Amino acid sequence: MKIIGTGSALPQKVVTNDMLAGFLDTSDSWITTRTGIRSRRLLSTETLRELANDAALKALESSGLRPEDIDYLICSNVANTYVSPSLGSILLGSLGCCCPTFDLNGACAGLVYALDMADAFIKTGKAHRILIVAAEQPSRFCDWHDRSTSVLFGDGAAALVVTEGEGFMDFRLTGENHTDVMYYKRSLEVTPYDRVEEKTTPLVMEGREVFRIAVEASVRDVDTLLERNGLTGNDIDFFLLHQANMRIIECIRVHLDLPREKFPTNIQNYGNTSSASIGILMDELSREGKLKDGDTIMMSAFGGGFVTGAAILKWSEIKYN
Ligand code: UT7
Repeated sequence: MKIIGTGSALPQKVVTNDMLAGFLDTSDSWITTRTGIRSRRLLSTETLRELANDAALKALESSGLRPEDIDYLICSNVANTYVSPSLGSILLGSLGCCCPTFDLNGACAGLVYALDMADAFIKTGKAHRILIVAAEQPSRFCDWHDRSTSVLFGDGAAALVVTEGEGFMDFRLTGENHTDVMYYKRSLEVTPYDRVEEKTTPLVMEGREVFRIAVEASVRDVDTLLERNGLTGNDIDFFLLHQANMRIIECIRVHLDLPREKFPTNIQNYGNTSSASIGILMDELSREGKLKDGDTIMMSAFGGGFVTGAAILKWSEIKYN
């Protein structure tokens, strides 16, 4: 399976650290030093569906395919306004696609999960041209009085079109339960039989523990994929890592003992956009012409659960108008 189209879309509204310091007990220097984030984009006047649609159209355009050519739409989304229908189903209408679709929740690793699933569909002949959309609004999970979580996230969407071809070499997905360390609970309706009244709990996160788990898990995935494919870090041109914290990326880089140029980032501008983060980064690098034919790329993401997803692929250059 190979990637033949990329797209991304971000909200118009830029929110700087100083803007947050206007109503939270925080500062630009704390956020920048601890996370690397300088600003983020937050949905205000647009909707997540519009963002997802925009990213998907750009990916389709760059792939040279029309919406009706797509035979599967996989959407990575943790939560949006609708529990049902899925974001994928809603997108079918605006995109003009008529194909099976579902949303998957692989938390921040959702894009790699979607790619792994698409790879299986393509290998078995179940689908030939798959549109993957990762669209997330994590800003809506946070309590905006809680400085320890709300400063970290941004909203965004990314899309990829994949089809048969030489590209993805290997995937590694893992999961282990640590619900208590990071969760966001939405209340459900009360029935006459199950009277447990649950309240929505905004994102709860033990930051230090998540940090530790994230570094360990990503390092384990990257090392395993390198070894399994007879490669070393030097053979990888770019590590596209989940953009959660600049210090997490730096810990992984130091472990691998590789130069910074191999670890492009955009967390500075967008914060943590959950499962969209690697896709947005990939789209930007590809459109800037930084990803060259034959480049070897390692993707690695971790997310609530905890789940992790990593992949190695050979890049095929995409032409943009
Ligand atoms: O996709 C996965 C999503 N989550 C992550 O990737 C999160 C991973 N964890 C992290 O990125 C880091 O743990 C954080 C950025 C969340 C926190 O950084 P830290 O260096 O681990 O700080 P800390 O939680 O140990 O807090 C240090 C201090 C505390 O004050 P005291 O107890 O030392 O007085 C916090 O209350 O910093 C305080 N603090 C803040 N201060 C100013 C926490 N948040 C803020 C803030 N502004 N926004």
